Amino acid sequence: MSVDAVPEKLLTWYDAHHRRLPWRAGPGEAPTDPYRVWLSEIMLQQTTVAAVKPYFDRFTARWPTVADLAAADEAEVMSAWAGLGYYARARNLIACARAVTDDHGARFPDSEAGLRALPGIGDYSAAAIAAIAFGRRAVVIDANVERVASRIFAFDQPLPKGRPALRALVDSITPDRRAGDFAQAMMDLGSSICTPRAPQCLLCPLSPDCTARMTGRPEAFPVKAAKRPKPQRLGTAFWIEHDDRVWLVRRPDKGMLGGMRALPSGPWGDDDPGLAGAPVDAAWREAGSVDHVFTHFALKLRVVSAAHPGQVGVGEWWPIDTIADAGLPTLFARAAARAIADRDAQEH
Ligand code: ADE
Repeated sequence: MSVDAVPEKLLTWYDAHHRRLPWRAGPGEAPTDPYRVWLSEIMLQQTTVAAVKPYFDRFTARWPTVADLAAADEAEVMSAWAGLGYYARARNLIACARAVTDDHGARFPDSEAGLRALPGIGDYSAAAIAAIAFGRRAVVIDANVERVASRIFAFDQPLPKGRPALRALVDSITPDRRAGDFAQAMMDLGSSICTPRAPQCLLCPLSPDCTARMTGRPEAFPVKAAKRPKPQRLGTAFWIEHDDRVWLVRRPDKGMLGGMRALPSGPWGDDDPGLAGAPVDAAWREAGSVDHVFTHFALKLRVVSAAHPGQVGVGEWWPIDTIADAGLPTLFARAAARAIADRDAQEH
């Protein structure tokens, strides 16, 4: 058995079975506009294809070119991003569009190194964009590629420590031609057939070449180091209501959910903050809580609500029946839903 045939077999499979996606050229078609490839790759980090599609369509309809996005109102972009998570990425998105427009004549650099020099473009995105948009040979590794490759080679070093060695193996099977299709073929195989728990090896074009399959337990790969549990933090959010409007603030640029619209909230820490950080004195009613998991910690956000007329500080009164248009990040959209459910329960 050898892996020499892997790229060829995989590309043949891709030609017949690739997913048609709005940011993708079909095999043999002219490459997609690098702007669309870039935008999709930034959106797809840590988010599923199904979740990204409507955002991608809305962004490209609203801002069809990188120069349009560079000229966009920042708050509008942040609102359009709401729900995708990882909000620092949206700020980098604007910074990158501006750098490409101002420093590169609105054309993306066509090399991995040139791309990596832009805001928000790391190793993965630089490789993916260079390969997919510019036909460069690049070694592209996301979670799907990692899983497929670790199975082909029955790679048994625990990740993330084993990543450099696994990268060398992916490099060894990356073809000189069609590296972008090869990367996307690995991704498509990983999302449809070579899935985490129950891979469908009978449908897989690579099963004769797959060492993990021969072990009888392909689902045991990749091997992962035991995860530490995430620290649990506690916080309180304040739902302040007046005349069917709710008081919203914009979070400071630096820090979690920076620049996003939000309910006012006090400190998030290891201990229950109680009502610390309440923007007004009021008769607070418990409205429940929401649990939300961030990359580095889990948060239990208690929601309290009160009626309060008049100005509260720096912020805005937002009509409650159009709260869905406020561009709240998911944590605060869920906290708002909790407060609204509590309010409806009070009224009935
Ligand atoms: N995930 C990240 N980039 C992708 C792409 N180009 N196609 C499919 N899934 C992806």
